[in-house]
Amino acid sequence: MPLFDVYPLYNVTPVSAKDVYVYDETGTEYLDLYGGHAVISIGHAHPNYIKAITSQVNALGFYSNAIQNPLQVDLADKIEALSGCKGYELFLCNSGAEANENALKLASFKTGKSRVLAFKNGFHGRTSAAVAVTDNANIIAPINAQQKVTILELNDIVGVKAELEKGDVCGVIIEFIQGVGGLDQATGDFFEQVFTLCKANNTMFIADEVQSGYGRSGKFFAFQHYNVTPDIISIAKGMGNGFPIGGILIHPDIEAKYGMLGTTFGGNHLACAAGLAVLNTIEKENLIDNVNEMSAYFIEVAQTIPQIKKIKGRGLMLGLEFDFEVGDLRKKLIYDYHIFTGGASNKKLLRILPPLTIKKEHINQFFDALKKAL
Ligand SMILES: Cc1ncc(COP(=O)(O)O)c(C=O)c1O
Repeated sequence: MPLFDVYPLYNVTPVSAKDVYVYDETGTEYLDLYGGHAVISIGHAHPNYIKAITSQVNALGFYSNAIQNPLQVDLADKIEALSGCKGYELFLCNSGAEANENALKLASFKTGKSRVLAFKNGFHGRTSAAVAVTDNANIIAPINAQQKVTILELNDIVGVKAELEKGDVCGVIIEFIQGVGGLDQATGDFFEQVFTLCKANNTMFIADEVQSGYGRSGKFFAFQHYNVTPDIISIAKGMGNGFPIGGILIHPDIEAKYGMLGTTFGGNHLACAAGLAVLNTIEKENLIDNVNEMSAYFIEVAQTIPQIKKIKGRGLMLGLEFDFEVGDLRKKLIYDYHIFTGGASNKKLLRILPPLTIKKEHINQFFDALKKAL
């Protein structure tokens, strides 16, 4: 049976990996500055992660959400401790889209309203409501287009105010650093004013931290660079270092009811073991400090390369903008220099999303290759 052909593929077949390197079937080593779409947080095949998953699967890999699962409680406590988000409650699911789907559903349950405000170039996933609030007409099927969504420009505070005052908006969903769109960020003033307007209009403020969360921005969450308190925070990607897990942190003002949300696989034992190993490693290896140090170094070197017209993003969620489309450059970096990088909707942008364990030597390896490739 052929595979449903929805992905344009590079001709590389990874079979193993270690920290920031991936190896193909011939043993060729690739430097991974993409982390499989910002997923690899603590590095590939981290020994603590392997140990935690292996011992958990030997004990109990899965049981449903109908029994006590203390691993979920441990995971929730650890997220609270490391993120500093006190008092929130955790609902676990399996992916970023699912996290946002549940976030939007909760916003609608809580407010009794159904329209959502989202932003130009935003990406929130491919399920029903998540894709409807994503700014990409090509991936919105007619069944998704029925949702009531208004897309505004980032920083259009006048527009946000006018829409919220109509009284029918259940949620505003926003990435504090846009991922797929191309690393654009609204101003701090904008984020803070949107938050205040949400409060005034009984609208849930939803921070999509699926890509920017878990230390990638240089703080546990990217919204923590600003003075806002989201009602719902969605998480996934770096949370499981490759194990499928997602979730939402829910402000205590939103009251849970039995049956309101639910999932078969979400929060299973194996996923929680993976999630706990990730958080323990982020803490033990001071990875958020490393993000800030490596980010500063990366930016410092990038500034010396004249072909780079703009450096976007924060932490280890960075974009290098050129005055040409980077498709061929990415191919050259993979096939000639064995380095994975990412693209974005902005075709002139090279996306850099390495494991949070990256060191200066890897950054030097990248820039040496980039200079030659240019
Ligand atoms: C900001 C953001 N939200 C949501 C998603 C969707 O996550 P997933 O692919 O796990 O469904 C992504 C994926 O790229 C993302 O970058």
